[in-house]
Amino acid sequence: MPFGRLIKSKLAEVQKLGLEIDMIAPDHGVIWRDDPGGIIQKYLDLADGKSELAVTLIYDTMWHSTERMTIPIMQGIKDEGVNCKVIKLRATPMSVAIKEFWKSRGCLVGSPTLNNLMFPSVAEFLTHLRGLRPTNRIMGAFGSYGWGGGAVKGAYEEFKKMKLETVEPGIQVLYKPSLEDESACYEFAKDFANKVKEYHKQFK
Ligand SMILES: Cc1cc2nc3c(=O)[nH]c(=O)nc-3n(C[C@H](O)[C@H](O)[C@H](O)COP(=O)(O)O)c2cc1C
Repeated sequence: MPFGRLIKSKLAEVQKLGLEIDMIAPDHGVIWRDDPGGIIQKYLDLADGKSELAVTLIYDTMWHSTERMTIPIMQGIKDEGVNCKVIKLRATPMSVAIKEFWKSRGCLVGSPTLNNLMFPSVAEFLTHLRGLRPTNRIMGAFGSYGWGGGAVKGAYEEFKKMKLETVEPGIQVLYKPSLEDESACYEFAKDFANKVKEYHKQFK
């Protein structure tokens, strides 16, 4: 992600040489002997930030209220015909969460408020992501809180530091979501899915 531009110009240089490539042996990592052309194409896709019309929900929770929000949110996204995958940070290696983020055009980040801030695992994910300098993604946030909140606001601050597109103001629920809150989550997700569809058009 962070070196996409450099990689694209370097690969263009290599392609100009017109060499037949049998094997890719990087400084570190695995040696690719099968289908080096396919690997180069994957690398170019990575460098281009290529992604699918899909939304990934990436969240964590202390007492399951934020977790409960993921169900109507996922439903709302799917009902708009957009694929949706849900990632619980504490059950997922960071590298997998980042890969799932990368695959989808849209991402909704869910966090409870802990001492006015995001839950630490969510903040960790966003710090990791920011270092990778993602582009061409549309973001939103959701979460449960008990009084003043702060997690959703904090997530948007991070999205802005990354200069990513956002759908604001996200959605917050006081403690455990009520039936009305679940309906609001569903409607929020439908709207988000439509914004993702609109945003995705420019990349076709
Ligand atoms: C240690 C602790 C600190 C909290 N700090 C805040 C806070 O600063 N502001 C707030 O609005 N809620 C705060 N809460 C309340 C939680 O955000 C609230 O219980 C929320 O529903 C938790 O969501 P979850 O079930 O997804 O973990 C705190 C809860 C705990 C346990």
